[in-house]
Amino acid sequence: MWLFQADLSGLRVAVLGAGKIGSVFIERLSGHVREVLATGRRPETLARAEELGATPLRDNARAASLADVVIVSVKPHHLPEVLREIHGHVSGKIVVSIVAGVRRATLQEVLEGATVFRAMPNINARVGGSATAVADSGDYDPKSRAVVEALFSRLGSVYWVPEEWLDPWTGLVGSGPAYIAEIIDGLVLGAVSMGLPREVVYRAVLDTLKATAELLANSDRHPAVLRDEVTTPAGTTIHGLKKFEEMGVKAALMSVVEAASVRGKELGDAIDAEVRRRLGLARRER
Ligand SMILES: NC(=O)c1ccc[n+]([C@@H]2O[C@H](COP(=O)([O-])OP(=O)(O)OC[C@H]3O[C@@H](n4cnc5c(N)ncnc54)[C@H](OP(=O)(O)O)[C@@H]3O)[C@@H](O)[C@H]2O)c1
Repeated sequence: MWLFQADLSGLRVAVLGAGKIGSVFIERLSGHVREVLATGRRPETLARAEELGATPLRDNARAASLADVVIVSVKPHHLPEVLREIHGHVSGKIVVSIVAGVRRATLQEVLEGATVFRAMPNINARVGGSATAVADSGDYDPKSRAVVEALFSRLGSVYWVPEEWLDPWTGLVGSGPAYIAEIIDGLVLGAVSMGLPREVVYRAVLDTLKATAELLANSDRHPAVLRDEVTTPAGTTIHGLKKFEEMGVKAALMSVVEAASVRGKELGDAIDAEVRRRLGLARRER
């Protein structure tokens, strides 16, 4: 429950780096804000941004000057140059970085005068299904928070979390679509090996996945309750579940998330340190 319900319709939003995720912002914000400005380096990047509804610009500083809210969506190795360009053009504005790894304190140190947010959406934003984490600093003014909440709500759900969660979040939610895609593929291949046609079972597995997620989302029940509901004594499900246990599927899934989260933290620390080094900022104690 927010004190302010932000109205986006009067805002100019600059998307610096109209790549894969930047394009999703353009698509989902166009028509809901006053104007989306988008930057990129290659003519084809700018042409695609324009097709999606943005005003294309080559100059990050100009885009930042014209905008009320600046979303930074370049790869980490391009971040130092972009921060140098927009420094001095974002005072009093909201800047949201979705660049993996780079800490909010680092961004804030360079962009004095701006209200800096750090967020981690995922690619499901394309269909309005991102589970976006936004690092909650606690001292944001309610209006800025409401604007960021409203902007990311265009992409899906918004979770305000401690900043330390963003690296493990990347390992679970950022990488999540890849894990789910692998699980879907495995289930489909199992059916194909039993002689069922791939094209049919693929759609059926997707239907099953979507409806199972909906059933769980619409109830407070633990997933194990749903599992038990469909597990008839001596039936098919218990025979399948026994294989889950024998093959260590649940332990494997836990290890997948742990490994990706540990890697997320390693990468985050390394990326942040490198960005700080390139910006000439003091090393931070870990
Ligand atoms: N992809 C995702 O699902 C996702 C999810 C969460 C967070 N992120 C974060 O979002 C960032 C972008 O990821 P991505 O997958 O969208 O990468 P991407 O497709 O490579 O997009 C990056 C874009 O930045 C542009 N760019 C590079 N240097 C620039 C500069 N100096 N000024 C303006 N634009 C510049 C590139 O333009 P040109 O193509 O014209 O060179 C490119 O279009 C990364 O930091 C990543 O951690 C991505």
